[in-house]
Amino acid sequence: MALQDELEQAQTAALAAFAAATDAAAVEAVRVAWLGRSGRIKALQQGFGAASPEEKRQLGPLFNTVMEALKAALVDAQARVSSAETDVPIDLTLPERPRPVGSVHPLSQVAEEVERIFSSMGYAVVDGPHIEADEFNFGRLNIPPDHPARDSQDTFWLDLPGAAEKRLLRTHTSSVQSRTYQQVGLGKLTPPFRRVVVGKVFRYEAVDATHDNTFTQVEGFVVDRDITVAHLIGTIRTMLTAVLRRDDVEVRLRPSFFPFVEPGFEVDVRLTSAEPGSRFARWVELLGCGMIHPRVLEAGGIDPAEWQGFAFGLGLERLAMIRHGIADIRVFNGADLRSLEQFGAYG
Ligand code: DAH
Repeated sequence: MALQDELEQAQTAALAAFAAATDAAAVEAVRVAWLGRSGRIKALQQGFGAASPEEKRQLGPLFNTVMEALKAALVDAQARVSSAETDVPIDLTLPERPRPVGSVHPLSQVAEEVERIFSSMGYAVVDGPHIEADEFNFGRLNIPPDHPARDSQDTFWLDLPGAAEKRLLRTHTSSVQSRTYQQVGLGKLTPPFRRVVVGKVFRYEAVDATHDNTFTQVEGFVVDRDITVAHLIGTIRTMLTAVLRRDDVEVRLRPSFFPFVEPGFEVDVRLTSAEPGSRFARWVELLGCGMIHPRVLEAGGIDPAEWQGFAFGLGLERLAMIRHGIADIRVFNGADLRSLEQFGAYG
């Protein structure tokens, strides 16, 4: 038989063998048998040496065509068996795996609510630095270095390289009052103004069910003409009724001392329809407040004969605890999702 005919027959047979192979091992066996180093095609190619020059001219292109066809068949066969092997049946009736959906942290919910209420009463929402100078956290708030009021605020002091004096993690958001009044002295702000801060504060405290070393305070302050304690009480009532979303909120004021207000008060709250004996059926101390001390206004360059104001500060956690009936403050920073996700978004 002529070499050409043999080549053509070999091509037909090899293509059929590739098409018939059903797994990777079978494809490989066909490859070795036909295209391998001691395969049939190689054997045929060795016969070319004895052909006449005329025959060789025809054999060359034919040989190339056959090789291309077989290599393409090999690639096709390999692709076919490998996709067959990974073709695991899909059960479309299986229910989807549950996807976890986040919820807004209970503190963030209450913070947003507080900011919304105060914005609606014309307050600007502001904040200041967490790492603070003594001057703003204490000095300008009428708390000089030797004042005993410092003892009640256990402080994290920071020795920052290159700083002339120690810094501290702010112990309360009242530091933002100092910074705001300073703006007036610098000519960057003029009264009247109303501001609210919702921000983190830090105290070197032992942690228990009602104390944490990192917590959140709400500080509100108003500087205007003819401001009285009545405005202060009305503002606090409005805030509590709105944030707690209850109509059984009762508040009482007790005289108290804070160096940056005069007179100063402590506000207690109770929920008149709370279950008797439960935590919020009794008076719970909620916030400190008062009329801004003339010296604090003066320290910022505000004339206390012309301007008065009130200020108050409270723990946002405590507000959230009342609103959600949470008994332990450690829930908020504890990152235990089983606790946090119970409060959902905007419950
Ligand atoms: N800064 C006080 C504290 O952290 C709370 C406070 C009391 C803020 C009275 C005030 C205020 O603005 O008038 O304990």
